[in-house]
Amino acid sequence: MQLLRLMQNYFPPPVLDLLQQTGQAAADLNLKVYLIGGSIRDLLLPHRAFDWDIDLVVENQGEEARAEALARELQSRLGGQLQVFKQYGTAKLGKFKPDERLQLDIATARTESYAYPGANPEVAFSDLHADLDRRDFSVNALAIALLPDNFGQLIDYFEGYHDLQHRHLRTLHPDKFREDPVRAWRACRLEQALDFQIESETAELIADTMKSGLFDGFCSARIRVELRKVLSFDDPIPCLLRLSELGVLRCLDPHLKLNETLLDALNRLEQWQPWFAEAHDAWAAPLCLLLEAVPLEKRPALLPKLELNQHQLRSWLAFEQKSQTYLQNDWSKMPPSAIYAALKAIPDLTLWLWLARYPESPLALTIERYWLEWRNLKPFLTGHELKQWLKPGPHMRALLNELLRARLDGETHSHDDEMTLAQKLIQQRQEVL
Ligand code: CTP
Repeated sequence: MQLLRLMQNYFPPPVLDLLQQTGQAAADLNLKVYLIGGSIRDLLLPHRAFDWDIDLVVENQGEEARAEALARELQSRLGGQLQVFKQYGTAKLGKFKPDERLQLDIATARTESYAYPGANPEVAFSDLHADLDRRDFSVNALAIALLPDNFGQLIDYFEGYHDLQHRHLRTLHPDKFREDPVRAWRACRLEQALDFQIESETAELIADTMKSGLFDGFCSARIRVELRKVLSFDDPIPCLLRLSELGVLRCLDPHLKLNETLLDALNRLEQWQPWFAEAHDAWAAPLCLLLEAVPLEKRPALLPKLELNQHQLRSWLAFEQKSQTYLQNDWSKMPPSAIYAALKAIPDLTLWLWLARYPESPLALTIERYWLEWRNLKPFLTGHELKQWLKPGPHMRALLNELLRARLDGETHSHDDEMTLAQKLIQQRQEVL
């Protein structure tokens, strides 16, 4: 009864109504349907925001792909767009009334087995108990019945409710992390995101699994997804420290250590966030700093697994290969136009990394000056104005570059100065021709 009240408070009325309709549709098809996953966590914890993604499990022993049957029935009642993934026994229904933000992920109850540690799971259809048993933590193994005669009944085979109340992450079986090391990442991420504590035996299991070396350098696509989520936290450092403490960072490289230099640089990224953050994925800059902490000879093995896009890759390579040259430049002896040319050739992401990594260095001070004073400087004269003397093309480009150079180096201060200079340069060119 109390759970029903919680559901009424947590779910917007049309969503509660949808869950009731789903239960009715399942009953009409002689199926059993349950709410599962993150929305139960959020429902039972205080002050958690409502999530429009709703996960459902359909159970019907002996028959396969019942999720599809329920999804089709719901579509016929509610409309919306349906996607069916027959081989997985799952379906997605979205863009339907009452609210287009809602998305129903419907899965046929199943069990998973792993041919070897870290393998993709082999799936077989089964009942609700087995479906919940295959999940990582007890708090993720709760279900709420949705049929008309048991609507709102909590199903808790693994004491997940108790763990939720104590904010504990407890794994369901000792071999969960050997089966799938992604769960070790999830444990650390959920611990931070939910303000939970990984229960001590679970923490030991993670540490032991990682210590075995089985997953050294095992940065699969799913681990990459987790890594990006962690690095996208407002402050990823506490989670990184936990990943390091439990040995989970060994999945990237066993030699990766969160030393003081790295932590200082990670901390300092935030200082320049207003300049750079908007243009980049939140995880990109911290990821480059982590990569720099991996020994040089190990980086080629890790880099392709990180799947950086072209811009990120260019930024990383500039950071890796040009830092020493740029740090050794005698910036004080260079005219602003030379500084401008040198820094313009460097991706912004690399500039951010240098600021965080080498604070107070002449390089960092020069970058700050470049960013604030010179980066957006343009000649007073526009190409449009120059058209009266010159056709657009390489000559005009060269002239504009020369005007910019003169302005950067303080040789011109006004539109008039530039007019005089432009006329002089055009005349010189005509004399040469
Ligand atoms: N799961 C698992 N092992 C994984 C990934 C997921 O056992 N490597 C289980 C978890 O119990 C999880 C469920 O599959 O609750 C659904 O996964 P997902 O939707 O990815 O996770 P959520 O728990 O909803 O959390 P989040 O969205 O924050 O990842």
